[in-house]
Amino acid sequence: METEQITLNEPLKPNKPVAVEVRGKKIALLLVNDNLLCFEGKCTHQGGDLSKGMVEGTTVICPNHHVQFDCVTGQVLRNLPSEYGQATSLRTFKAKLTDKNKVSIEL
Ligand code: FES
Repeated sequence: METEQITLNEPLKPNKPVAVEVRGKKIALLLVNDNLLCFEGKCTHQGGDLSKGMVEGTTVICPNHHVQFDCVTGQVLRNLPSEYGQATSLRTFKAKLTDKNKVSIEL
């Protein structure tokens, strides 16, 4: 397990996901109730950008076809009908804010 330090352009705002790229991986950061959630930023269905998805609590909804994911566990909460292809769980990562706009992520 390696830790990567990243600096954001601006501090995270609650309930607004932000996309970062770490070692070629698209990752999304989301601050909910002072908890920093960190998960794969690319939808496992067809690659939608989850940082542009709508957020409800700790659920993110893919902007493309509206699959819903739990940002804490990465699990799919609501999938597509199987004829459209199914999304699978997202990878999640441990992350913490080390300063207002600095984040350390365990990859
Ligand atoms: S790309 Fe995300 S639901 Fe299809």
